Amino acid sequence: MTVTKGCSSRNKTTMFRPKGMFNVLVVITVLLITLQSGYLFGWWPIVGNEQAQLVQSGEQGEEKGRNDITTKTIEKNKAKEAGSARAVLQTDDNTIENLAVILNKKLSDFPSEKGGPTKKLCDRAKSASEPCVNATCPTMFSSSPEIRLKQILSTRNESLHSFKSAMAEVTRGVSASFKYMLVSAVSANHYYEMQAMVKNVHTHLLPRLTNFTFIIFDLGLTPLQRNLTEKNCGCTVLDYPFDKLPALFSILKCYTWKPMIIRSLIEKTEFLVWMDSSVRWNRTAQSLDSLFQRCRERGLQVWFGRIGSVAVHTEHDMFRFYGDQPCQYDPYGEMHGSYGVYHNEPFVRYAVLDPWLSCAFTRRCMCLQNAKHSCARKTLPRRTGVCHRFDQSSLGIILIKLYGSRIKLINMNTQMEVHRGDNAKWFGRLAG
Ligand SMILES: *[C@@H]1O[C@H](CO)[C@@H](O)[C@H](O)[C@H]1NC(C)=O
Ligand SMILES: *[C@@H]1O[C@H](CO)[C@@H](O)[C@H](O)[C@H]1NC(C)=O
Ligand SMILES: *[C@@H]1O[C@H](CO)[C@@H](O)[C@H](O)[C@H]1NC(C)=O
Ligand SMILES: *[C@@H]1O[C@H](CO)[C@@H](O)[C@H](O)[C@H]1NC(C)=O
Ligand SMILES: *[C@@H]1O[C@H](CO)[C@@H](O)[C@H](O)[C@H]1NC(C)=O
Repeated sequence: MTVTKGCSSRNKTTMFRPKGMFNVLVVITVLLITLQSGYLFGWWPIVGNEQAQLVQSGEQGEEKGRNDITTKTIEKNKAKEAGSARAVLQTDDNTIENLAVILNKKLSDFPSEKGGPTKKLCDRAKSASEPCVNATCPTMFSSSPEIRLKQILSTRNESLHSFKSAMAEVTRGVSASFKYMLVSAVSANHYYEMQAMVKNVHTHLLPRLTNFTFIIFDLGLTPLQRNLTEKNCGCTVLDYPFDKLPALFSILKCYTWKPMIIRSLIEKTEFLVWMDSSVRWNRTAQSLDSLFQRCRERGLQVWFGRIGSVAVHTEHDMFRFYGDQPCQYDPYGEMHGSYGVYHNEPFVRYAVLDPWLSCAFTRRCMCLQNAKHSCARKTLPRRTGVCHRFDQSSLGIILIKLYGSRIKLINMNTQMEVHRGDNAKWFGRLAG
């Protein structure tokens, strides 16, 4: 794939051979045990303390090797896995092997599209945040999609299955009989922006769709706002189960609610369309068809811009969680978390949304409370980890790792518009 410009890249296989053996054995054991327990819980296919184990080994100063340990372990022990654990899993659609086949198919089925990671060297970059290639980055992504997939899957947090009841709460009362599900969430300070979004959806989107449902989560509307929204939005207003989730899920500015809602609701629809209250539709009927067509084939459709590099706009702690160096992400522009279309299929649920939600559940990943929200720093020299984009940083990392240099495959063919602060008092039209 890309980002192979490193001229001083270390040979990591050699690097980890000396201390690797003990870890390899521990990880094998844990992997086999957890494969079994995943079966018992019927929730996580490939779960476990593997993650904790790897984090632990990182604390012992080998953190950079996390991906390599995982990869080597899994490669070396395919035979053992095949004996017990894989036999248990083989009929599932979420085994590593099956997900790898799906990823390879997605990566090879489509002609390449313009764009993707830049080839411009950071020395030539004119701003402190634009995507560029760091020629001295010591680490590179594996060129094997299967290895990259395994790295992402190794970050899934087994604790998620204990929040099944919260997920059930999110979807309670949502019928699964619609093809499209339009979803948003709003707190009191975005009430008027949300009204403008609802108006836009009713004007530009709903006339072109059949078989849809429109849902807005109440993240803290006032009782009056809630009342008027229910009356006027032409949508279903749902509660968000704050009380059933860890405390960090109550910090709205961490945006953990977004992966929680999307992961829970995807089960109930064919296509989930996420929109922040600042999102505005402006599309032709034809491109709407092609949007959903692309989404069905490729898994999801989001928008990767060229605004800021993921490496600059993501805190170092998050890269540590993924076992990566920030500079690996230098050439990639960040995605827009404000909108996206997700297809309900095993690959999206297990390889994209579960890892995304796992990051939300983990202390030093998405919800970094001291992180800077503002990414305004524009002056050179360039520096990574200047600010944090929370949900958007995490999903961007997952998607870049999975789709690599073919990232444009999952880019929407038309950009939706984000109009922050575009307000309307649309609900008053009936109430007077
Ligand atoms: C490239 O990455 C290395 C390692 O993180 C860092 O020391 C160096 O400053 C980076 N160079 C540029 C131009 O960003
Ligand atoms: C709506 O979509 C759902 C899910 O795709 C499907 O089961 C249902 O039959 C559709 N209803 C109509 C009226 O087309
Ligand atoms: C909204 O408030 C009105 C008057 O206060 C009340 O009659 C009505 O039942 C409320 N509607 C909802 C959906 O709560
Ligand atoms: C939609 O796009 C057209 C053409 O770019 C533009 O003239 C129009 O103002 C846009 N409408 C909205 C609601 O943004
Ligand atoms: C998994 O999530 C739980 C619940 O939020 C958290 O306490 C734990 O630290 C996470 N585990 C790892 C290995 O990140």
